[in-house]
Amino acid sequence: MNEAAAREALRRARRVVVFTGAGVSAESGVPTFRGAGGLWKTFRPEELATPIAFGRDPGLVWEWYAWRREMVARCRPNAAHLALARWALARAGVTIVSQNVDDLHERAAREVAGDPEAARRAEPVRLHGSLFHDQCSRCAWRGPASTVVDTSSVAALPHCAECGGLLRPDVVWFGEMLPAKAVEAAFAAAADAEACLVIGTTGAVYPAAGVVHTARAAGARILVVDPGPTEYDEVSDVRIRETAGSAVPRILD
Ligand code: OAD
Repeated sequence: MNEAAAREALRRARRVVVFTGAGVSAESGVPTFRGAGGLWKTFRPEELATPIAFGRDPGLVWEWYAWRREMVARCRPNAAHLALARWALARAGVTIVSQNVDDLHERAAREVAGDPEAARRAEPVRLHGSLFHDQCSRCAWRGPASTVVDTSSVAALPHCAECGGLLRPDVVWFGEMLPAKAVEAAFAAAADAEACLVIGTTGAVYPAAGVVHTARAAGARILVVDPGPTEYDEVSDVRIRETAGSAVPRILD
């Protein structure tokens, strides 16, 4: 019933914004942030994903990110990522906006499209950056992730080829601004959407969570796929309490 309503709303909508969170990657084996299994090694993200933690002990923060990169690199896109990629490539007017830094939407898009150029249309707007990119903590350099092997001293950590500054992961940390271009693209897509498909996010972290409220204010139908409670439950038009891997392919394929 709910599934049929979701399919119909998506079929009718000329422009759709898809908003994803950690839950879309849960069945790939990537831990979520909140709720059961929401633990990253022995650290809480709030303790290490901050500029203050990096300033205090960059080696510890890099060790944690190197571990996360290794762990996430072993994960594979699941049925939800792949169904979303197929769908976004097959029809016009879909913008995927993700809070995730795991690059699994990107990998699904490349897997489905076959070549990186064609995959672009199914790649998400990344609101919180990417685990697999670095940025310089001193200048504006951004680029692919460096390999971090030795975290025992600051000198052994990766440094910028342009200015010699210490590199850091290109992810948004607590207390930092989101990338302006991504925010602009995400909110513009939301303001223009006729349907908003929300998958696997509690909707608790702002400003990202505002994407859904912007879509709703613009008149979009709000469709939420999440087995647990979310901040969007009151404002959803269709609520599917199932995992992404089982519900999303059934709604989209
Ligand atoms: P959360 O950990 O807050 O929420 C994960 C959501 O996924 C919950 O609502 C779960 O019920 C749901 N979930 C769990 N398993 C699922 C499955 N198999 N299928 C579908 N849903 C499932 O993660 P986010 O909402 O993404 O920010 O967290 C938002 C932001 O908080 C993150 O991007 C991160 C964090 O602080 C930054 O790092 C800046």
